Amino acid sequence: MQLPAPRGPLSQQVAHVLADRAMDAPVVTALPLQDDDLLVNEDVQLALWMLFELHYRGFDDVDPDLEWDPLLIHSRTMLEACLEQTLRRLTADDVRRAASSAGDLPEQLNHLIDELDGGSLASHLQRHATEEQFADFLRQRSVYQLKESDPQSFVLPRLDGPAKAALAELQYDEYGAGRPERLHATMFARAMEAIGLDSAYGAHVDEASAITLAVNNVMSMFALRRRLRGAALGHLAAFEATSSAPCRRIVSGIERLGLPEVTAAYFDEHVEADAVHEQLAIRNICGTLVEAEPELADDVLFGAASCLRLDGLAGAALVDMWSRPAPRHLVGVQA
Ligand SMILES: [Fe+2]
Ligand SMILES: [Fe+2]
Repeated sequence: MQLPAPRGPLSQQVAHVLADRAMDAPVVTALPLQDDDLLVNEDVQLALWMLFELHYRGFDDVDPDLEWDPLLIHSRTMLEACLEQTLRRLTADDVRRAASSAGDLPEQLNHLIDELDGGSLASHLQRHATEEQFADFLRQRSVYQLKESDPQSFVLPRLDGPAKAALAELQYDEYGAGRPERLHATMFARAMEAIGLDSAYGAHVDEASAITLAVNNVMSMFALRRRLRGAALGHLAAFEATSSAPCRRIVSGIERLGLPEVTAAYFDEHVEADAVHEQLAIRNICGTLVEAEPELADDVLFGAASCLRLDGLAGAALVDMWSRPAPRHLVGVQA
């Protein structure tokens, strides 16, 4: 993958450092920790996304050793601190309400999911979306789906016992249960190709909105920080629990438009798989994690609320873009 086009001074500086190793001081030295606009700041989100991507596939012509460069790690840490504070503030009331609701942790998670599950994007895709809008949707989602479940794999070595066994079981499904053509990321690539979209890893990062990049950054931050392992798994539970029913609506939208079966196949796979994964993630992963480590309960709820709030914002940004005649691309969503 090529380095993406910068979208402001910070991403420009990160791209410059990655391309030329031109660095003798941290790229990021100070950022406001209470920035309400952080989630829609495409310059900051892209800079952070590039720094995280060093832990996944990296970039063409960028030294792989930069993954562990102390000055880049320092910069990433500062950006992550801002992002975590923004998320904690955004979800504080959600977490407080869920934590004080009746029942055990799985019941509290279900309560939170019922309360915050949006679903407006899936309804739009089912009933109103055009082919062009479906393509927009797949391009935005491709930033994550072409490496589907990779962030959560970083969590495995941070767990033990039942939660680890259950996460490994879920990941085995996501990774095709031994069949490379059933890797969910590969199925998503085929879904894109069937409607004429480039399915190369990272092909659409330049079109990704700030909120799409933030969705990806949050998964990476939770998964790569052992302290936040509870949040990573809460996020996973909310993600899985809000997938099956929307995927059913999306399949119906694909059929309405007469798009290829292979495009529907990816979503069809998730109607059944994620109904199973929902229970696996809520009870067998998060439930057993919190039984073993009760002090992680609030972070599990924090991760779940973060997922639900961000997905709501990402879905609303797409529907909002489609409701306006121009400009078409979400790159311009930031004010
Ligand atoms: Fe999947
Ligand atoms: Fe799943």
